[in-house]
Amino acid sequence: MSGSERVLTGIPGLEEMLNGGFPRGRVILLVGGPGTGKTIFSSQFIFSGIEQQNENGIYVSLDESQHHYLKEMSAFGWNLEKFEKEKKWIFIDASPIGDKDPKSKTERLTIGRKNFSLSNLIERILSSFKEIGAKRIAIDPITSLVFQYPDIIQRREAILKLIETLAETGATSILTIELKSSGLERNVQLEEYLAHGVIILQTIQVGNSSTRVIQIEKMREVSIDPQIRPYRITERGIEVYPKESVF
Ligand SMILES: Nc1ncnc2c1ncn2[C@@H]1O[C@H](COP(=O)(O)OP(=O)(O)OP(=O)(O)O)[C@@H](O)[C@H]1O
Ligand SMILES: [Mg+2]
Repeated sequence: MSGSERVLTGIPGLEEMLNGGFPRGRVILLVGGPGTGKTIFSSQFIFSGIEQQNENGIYVSLDESQHHYLKEMSAFGWNLEKFEKEKKWIFIDASPIGDKDPKSKTERLTIGRKNFSLSNLIERILSSFKEIGAKRIAIDPITSLVFQYPDIIQRREAILKLIETLAETGATSILTIELKSSGLERNVQLEEYLAHGVIILQTIQVGNSSTRVIQIEKMREVSIDPQIRPYRITERGIEVYPKESVF
């Protein structure tokens, strides 16, 4: 066992699978199919960090405007607007549609277009990081960001640059990415090799019912439970059942 400092995930049951939490300052990739809870998971990590650990957070959205995002998160009782006013939370709208809310102070980024630059996003994250002294960062989802690099070498460079920049801040980060194929035969994505930790969310068929399952694929510095475990999404957010088996 190494003595690396841990960060509480805010997801009930996950600490047990991680033997204590995420390794501090690392970049964790959350891989999941549509509707598996990537946005809820990464937001729960950020929200619980502010509320319970006094760790300020940044949430970067690449697919939703702040208005829609806040509406969805309010279903879980997460009042992020209050934290925004208190300068504990910053929302970066990097969605291709942009934020149409005139009250929003966030700038629009042109991701998903040819002229998009990753440096633009990195700059924006770094300036928000300095502004509130963030300890947690979430980018959700990075899919469109990485797929604008069809060339594998350029893609690798871009991801490494993003991961290194985030790690250099000392903040603990979650990057979400869409799962391209599911089941046991799925292809491992390049990003999974480059991230420090990988967690996979899936919906699988067990008997004649669908079950939500979570698996820790890897977590550098940490001894993990590598088994597939069930999780649920409720009005309190995501909850993992570390003692239950799926099959
Ligand atoms: N209050 C709730 N109670 C139970 N389940 C909920 C609740 N709110 C949302 N969900 C579930 O959460 C899922 C959406 O979660 P989330 O938006 O985090 O997924 P995602 O992986 O980010 O999806 P996408 O691929 O669309 O970005 C929905 O499929 C829905 O079943
Ligand atoms: Mg989402």
